[in-house]
Amino acid sequence: MRYLKIPRLFKTFKSHFAKTNDKNLKKKLFYNIINFMKKYKVVTYGCQMNEHESEKLGGILEARGYEKCLSDEEADVIVFNTCCVRENAEQHAYGNIGALKGLKKKKKSLIIAVGGCMTQQKGAAEKLRSTFPFVDIVFGTDNLGDFGALLDRAVESGKHFAEITENDTVTEGLPFRRNSYPNAWVNVMYGCNNFCTYCIVPYVRGRERSRKPEDVIAEVKSLVAEGYKEITLLGQNVNSYGKDLEEKTDFAELLAAVAEIDGKFRIRFMSNHPKDFNEKLIDVIKKYDKICNCVHLPVQSGSDRILKLMNRHYTAEDYLSKIKLLRDKIPSCAVTSDIMVGFPTETEEDFQATLDVVKKADYSGAFTFVYSRRSGTVADKMDGQIDDETKKDRIMRLVELQNSVNRAQSPAYNGKTVEILCEDFDEKKGYYLGRDEYGKMVYFKHGENVVGKFVNIKITEAKSISLYGDFINVQE
Ligand code: SAH
Ligand code: SF4
Ligand code: F3S
Repeated sequence: MRYLKIPRLFKTFKSHFAKTNDKNLKKKLFYNIINFMKKYKVVTYGCQMNEHESEKLGGILEARGYEKCLSDEEADVIVFNTCCVRENAEQHAYGNIGALKGLKKKKKSLIIAVGGCMTQQKGAAEKLRSTFPFVDIVFGTDNLGDFGALLDRAVESGKHFAEITENDTVTEGLPFRRNSYPNAWVNVMYGCNNFCTYCIVPYVRGRERSRKPEDVIAEVKSLVAEGYKEITLLGQNVNSYGKDLEEKTDFAELLAAVAEIDGKFRIRFMSNHPKDFNEKLIDVIKKYDKICNCVHLPVQSGSDRILKLMNRHYTAEDYLSKIKLLRDKIPSCAVTSDIMVGFPTETEEDFQATLDVVKKADYSGAFTFVYSRRSGTVADKMDGQIDDETKKDRIMRLVELQNSVNRAQSPAYNGKTVEILCEDFDEKKGYYLGRDEYGKMVYFKHGENVVGKFVNIKITEAKSISLYGDFINVQE
């Protein structure tokens, strides 16, 4: 198949290369020729931020003529975009990188690169290089923009490279290879200043850096013009957006400016920090139909004692009163959360306080985590680490409670007509799928491809996590 590209590429090369004086275009054409048979694979771990950064890696590789593939054997470049928020994410990456040793032995030209949060930890680059001497490139989250140059150097010289710098930049203008049409992620800021005592993110992602409002707005405008229908604004704590900018602004203003952009599309945003989530933002969510009535507001724990030890700067009562304010103003608003069990010294009573918040908050969904010790964090040095058995027991009870909350919410959907954005077709199930504005997954059958369209679906079967329904019509 790949050879079929040869005549087309040479034709493009000949006609464009001779004519153009544009250096960038010449470079791109040149890369297309030298890499015309080459393929890449990006393996991503972690949060949406990382998924989005993998789209940038894909963009950099495709600008060099590489083509995306899904198997290790086919690939000429394999990039691991790693996560270290919990131990199992790291183990997973280590296992998968190690598994490539044999392939690299057989195929010497294969370039293996490791980037992402894991490499940004103290001593991690050295550890990676000594554990996996066959890895060619190690790069940090702040060196993503230099990945193309590192790759060129590794290909040209056959030597290994490592580049890890402190996270302190905001790089604009990198190409993307977006993977999630009709949805698109847009960074509004990088880094985190909160230093929750359990969390490694501030150490590996550096201090908060906001993008300029005009850059965010320009990116959203061009995405909408390209036909993207759902934009998710991303930051570790979007509520502190703008604090570092010269121009006085905040997230509520940015969100309103994005919602003023013409066109039919939805807006989501994450994550919010309860300490900074405020009425001004709630009023913006209420004012604009484009902004989904769905707020991700991670509580972490329901115990005031544990919240203090976590350095979260709110109590369970503060938290619940923010949800009350949100629902007083927008009664239908869905709330989702991140919840952790097994933080050092957590007692059964503390855990019961978490269960109590889960009951009161009536979350439409929650990501639940077992606390994982992260070297270099304050909580890692705390006495009173909880044993695995107790953690396991608590996470099971927490998940069961959240499931029962969802089961109780579902019947209200029966017979209702909901507007969903069709995101994909599930080949195995034979159903189209998409989410309503509250984030609920809806499955339906239809004869035509409606991916990327807003459609009305009448719900016929409401399960706890997902809904099934009949297609009614496409919205214009
Ligand atoms: N900045 C976002 C996301 C942070 S990472 C926020 O604050 O909401 C996503 C989630 O991972 C966190 O909300 C937290 O629940 C969980 N997490 C972070 N560090 C963890 C650790 N050491 N062990 C277990 N879960 C952790
Ligand atoms: Fe981690 Fe807390 Fe920052 Fe979220 S807000 S990234 S949990 S330190
Ligand atoms: Fe995300 Fe994991 Fe890094 S959660 S910010 S990829 S440590």
